[in-house]
Amino acid sequence: MNSDRIRLPSLLEKVKSADEAAALIKDGMTVGMSGFTRAGEAKAVPLALVERAKKDPLKITLVTGASLGNDIDKKLTEVGALARRLPFQVDNTLRKAINDGQVMFIDQHLSETVEQMRANQIARPDIAVVEAVSITEKGYIVPTTSVGNSANFVQFAKQVIVEINTTLSPELEGLHDIYLPEERPNRTPVNLLKPDDRIGTTAIEVDPSKIVAIVFSDLSDSPSNALPADSETQAIADHLIEFLKQEVDAGRLPNSLRPLQVGIGTIANAVTSGLVKSPFTDLVQYSEVLQDSTFELLDAGKLKFASASSITVSAPCAERVFGNIAKYKDKLVLRPQEISNLPEIVRRLGTISINTALEFDIYGNVNSTHVNGSKMMNGIGGSGDFARNAQLAVFVTKSTAKGGAISSVVPMVSHVDHTGHDTDILVTEIGLADLRGLAPRERARAIIDNCVHPDYRSALNDYFERACAKGGQTPHILREALEWHINLEERGNMLSKG
Ligand code: COA
Repeated sequence: MNSDRIRLPSLLEKVKSADEAAALIKDGMTVGMSGFTRAGEAKAVPLALVERAKKDPLKITLVTGASLGNDIDKKLTEVGALARRLPFQVDNTLRKAINDGQVMFIDQHLSETVEQMRANQIARPDIAVVEAVSITEKGYIVPTTSVGNSANFVQFAKQVIVEINTTLSPELEGLHDIYLPEERPNRTPVNLLKPDDRIGTTAIEVDPSKIVAIVFSDLSDSPSNALPADSETQAIADHLIEFLKQEVDAGRLPNSLRPLQVGIGTIANAVTSGLVKSPFTDLVQYSEVLQDSTFELLDAGKLKFASASSITVSAPCAERVFGNIAKYKDKLVLRPQEISNLPEIVRRLGTISINTALEFDIYGNVNSTHVNGSKMMNGIGGSGDFARNAQLAVFVTKSTAKGGAISSVVPMVSHVDHTGHDTDILVTEIGLADLRGLAPRERARAIIDNCVHPDYRSALNDYFERACAKGGQTPHILREALEWHINLEERGNMLSKG
């Protein structure tokens, strides 16, 4: 069994228990762990680290690809083991510790973390912990359901722990395409011309002498928590698909559209599922994460190919895909996130990028991260890598949140992740605003007329008209611009004046 999964015999002696491997992680270390959107994270070693930290407290800087599953962020937070965390997270307990100032969270564009390590602008990992399905004859590491930053961590770290997940088939080998750009400034162009191009290797190259421990694990990825579409997410999907049809009719897009990037979550999943019944054919994805909807499209013969950095699916979909990977392998590729999200490629391919906003304002600035300007939700993730560079940058959100107490369309966003320069199309269940080629005052008209919930429309019109009377290229009444957020903070409702 061990020799099937560890094909370089000299590495067999490195097999250790999770506790022994976790003991190699020392207080103060920067630890680079695999894991991207709750897929492919190392599991046994971080969970053993949690147990160890209960008896022998330590603090680490934890760097991953993106979010982790199996409550690892939660458990590491509860034992006080996280001093610093980057570049993304989605866990409630960690979120609270971040917002209480107990964990320093560095929210980054997902393509940038390893670029900053490469340039020695942020600390490189002392130790890397990566999940694998196997180790090859040369000692190279075959990742599992995500690539994320794993290849870079392995390259940068002095020591590497490999966690072999026996629940996944070794047949996953061949799914990945590992390519790491050279150092700047003499880097050659990344020669990826089409989403299905393969430009690298199928395993992470490593000097086997760096591998200090190999741990076997039988823990699965946490299933996706995307909810089924509801009437509002379905309406958002319908508006967007109708818009894309019009773009095809107008000759601005081919019937195969352009490579699609779709963010994680319920709305994004509903939009992609909606494409099953659309007239579009021969679709391709150039995305960072693949959800259930990707496999619905593949099975329906609508999607030709999907490139991403991870696969995050529900339990039944995981069984269908990973239990039958041979059926899908030639239609999929998983890449390092600095390639799946590389701005240069996104711009060149002309992607259509669809991401979710917390709120946007009447001029099209988008807040994806901070509730009421202060409290971190998850992080910017890959949304900025794509939005700034996409041919069509789409942001979707429900028009209200928290039972209508919050309007997602506001006079001025309380935090800006994507400026109006980067946003082309905004969609709520109410309708769609096409901002392309519009000046700020025209954008405001399109957004108020098409996207705002009726309960908030007259208040927003009133603000906009009075702001225009004052004048300006982007008219605002600064004393009132954040009044809705102040109302929310003080009285729990954006329009309540107490
Ligand atoms: N103000 C305050 N809270 C808001 C809000 C607003 N304007 N809009 C939504 N929310 C709350 C919702 O009520 C919900 O709260 P709950 O968890 O207590 O129910 C929560 O935010 C999530 O909103 P939801 O509508 O369910 O959407 P989502 O799960 O798709 O998450 C983002 C939306 C913006 C938080 C999420 O998409 C994200 O983190 N985006 C940034 C990262 C990204 O885009 N990555 C790129 C691709 S993976």
